[in-house]
Amino acid sequence: MGDPEPGAESSAQLPWYRETAGECAFFEAAWQQGLPLLLKGPTGCGKTRFVAHMAARLGRPLFTVACHDDLTAADLTGRYLLSGGDTQWVDGPLTRAVREGGICYLDEVVEARKDVTVVLHPLTDDRRVLPLERTGEILQAPPEFMLVVSYNPGYQHVLKSLKPSTRQRFAALSFDFPPPEVETEIVAAESGLSKDLCAGLINLARRIRELKGKDLEEGVSTRLLVYCASLVAGGMAMETAARATLIQPLSDDGDVIAALEELLSHSF
Ligand SMILES: Nc1ncnc2c1ncn2[C@@H]1O[C@H](COP(=O)(O)OP(=O)(O)OP(=O)(O)O)[C@@H](O)[C@H]1O
Ligand SMILES: [Mg+2]
Repeated sequence: MGDPEPGAESSAQLPWYRETAGECAFFEAAWQQGLPLLLKGPTGCGKTRFVAHMAARLGRPLFTVACHDDLTAADLTGRYLLSGGDTQWVDGPLTRAVREGGICYLDEVVEARKDVTVVLHPLTDDRRVLPLERTGEILQAPPEFMLVVSYNPGYQHVLKSLKPSTRQRFAALSFDFPPPEVETEIVAAESGLSKDLCAGLINLARRIRELKGKDLEEGVSTRLLVYCASLVAGGMAMETAARATLIQPLSDDGDVIAALEELLSHSF
């Protein structure tokens, strides 16, 4: 196999992913049936890693797009660009994924404007086509193509939700932080810190997560736990690392920080 082309992420190496609830088999079944998939769950719980893992496992190139409200349909599909006096059509990531039978992953899809999400409609029902208005092409997606979108339902407001006609085109999986033993295993594997020390961190994280909805918008993520454990594995004192990764990133509110400090002081 040669080098991956620019734009597509390499699927040669299998990124490690610890499965928790049969999601790998589910993804594969959806892929085989040509169904688009929606992943919802809090920040840092493993959605991106899961998609990277599955793309590599299925041997498909992965095209990831972080959605935002300036994203245009052309950013996904492609545009004519000037090159040496000529104009040349350049495929966007969605078009490339369709042409190459890859997996297109739209992260934080609720951030995209509605006129962008409707571009996805003919691709996400039984037609599985991508019409390119500018070139006049109508691309039929090959069986290997899959569209995966994700978002965090936690901090979305009314204006930022998917239209029912969009969301009802997807099979959906809900992600959450894994059970403590599994999260301990993940954090230990990702950081190199011993399971015993990781278990203490996960205990603290669970108590912090209980504050979600009361004082905190979001509980501490698995990602932050990996940061913390990595710093400790590198020699940093536990409290220093925990303060910088499990407390300060969560809030700017003095009272909330004090409450989190209180939890920390009883932890180690
Ligand atoms: N099941 C898992 N297997 C392996 N690593 C995991 C798993 N869950 C979380 N992680 C670790 O947590 C980190 C964050 O996960 P990831 O980036 O996939 O989160 P995310 O759900 O995509 O978050 P966001 O919504 O903020 O993009 C990963 O880099 C990895 O270290
Ligand atoms: Mg992500």
